[in-house]
Amino acid sequence: MNSKIASVIARKGIEPISELTAYDYPTARLVDEAGVDMILVGDSLGMMMLGFPDTTHVTQAHMLHHVEAVARAVKNAVVIADMPIHTYDTPEQALETARALMAVGADAVKLEGGTAVEAQIRAITQAGIPVQGHIGLLPQKVKEDGGYRMRGKTDEEAAAIMRDMEAVVRAGAFSVVIECTKHSVAQAITRACPIITIGIGAGRGTCDGEVAVFHDLVGGYPWFTPSFARPRADISAEITRAVKTYIDEVRDSGAK
Ligand code: KIV
Repeated sequence: MNSKIASVIARKGIEPISELTAYDYPTARLVDEAGVDMILVGDSLGMMMLGFPDTTHVTQAHMLHHVEAVARAVKNAVVIADMPIHTYDTPEQALETARALMAVGADAVKLEGGTAVEAQIRAITQAGIPVQGHIGLLPQKVKEDGGYRMRGKTDEEAAAIMRDMEAVVRAGAFSVVIECTKHSVAQAITRACPIITIGIGAGRGTCDGEVAVFHDLVGGYPWFTPSFARPRADISAEITRAVKTYIDEVRDSGAK
């Protein structure tokens, strides 16, 4: 186990863990230098970087390109690479995908699902590659699973998410993201879970840590912000202001 991951794991139940997405060199460098614990090169880059409507358009080639750039920038944080849809349909394919992401500089990989991908997670962890699981709302399955709605609202759904957590743990993951899940369910899962839980849209203080999409945090994608996001800046407004100032200055300089 990589020493950066070991020191994050040791903080379960002691100190909350911060995770943020980053997809490019300057952002990853700023986020790392600010002291975040883990940087996720999420497949949310499909929307935030590439203009796709959802994450299902992201390919392994996209991921390799962005993970390599982020890994070049990061000195301290754990770099986690998302595995795109249909790159882990079998345990063999999952291992091949994970190895390629590790080869370009990731410290760990993340994939979505619980019981359905237990064999895939096990194949990766048994090869010595650290895995972060992802349960609750699964963005890669959002079309067939009824859209972006809060998960765990019924007893059956809450029990299924708990079983997913147990499968991820059995398969040897070091951490699990719990996305868009009823807050009391995320809290119950965290209490029952021996590995680090990281919440997003799962309530404040319900998990061992939180992950946010960088653009949601800084107001970098003004065309859509999830309801649970808590923006801390408005960089889109700053960019627009700077660009307009530049345009005005060029125009004011006059034709020569
Ligand atoms: O791709 C991503 O940004 C993610 C987070 C929502 C956890 O998977």
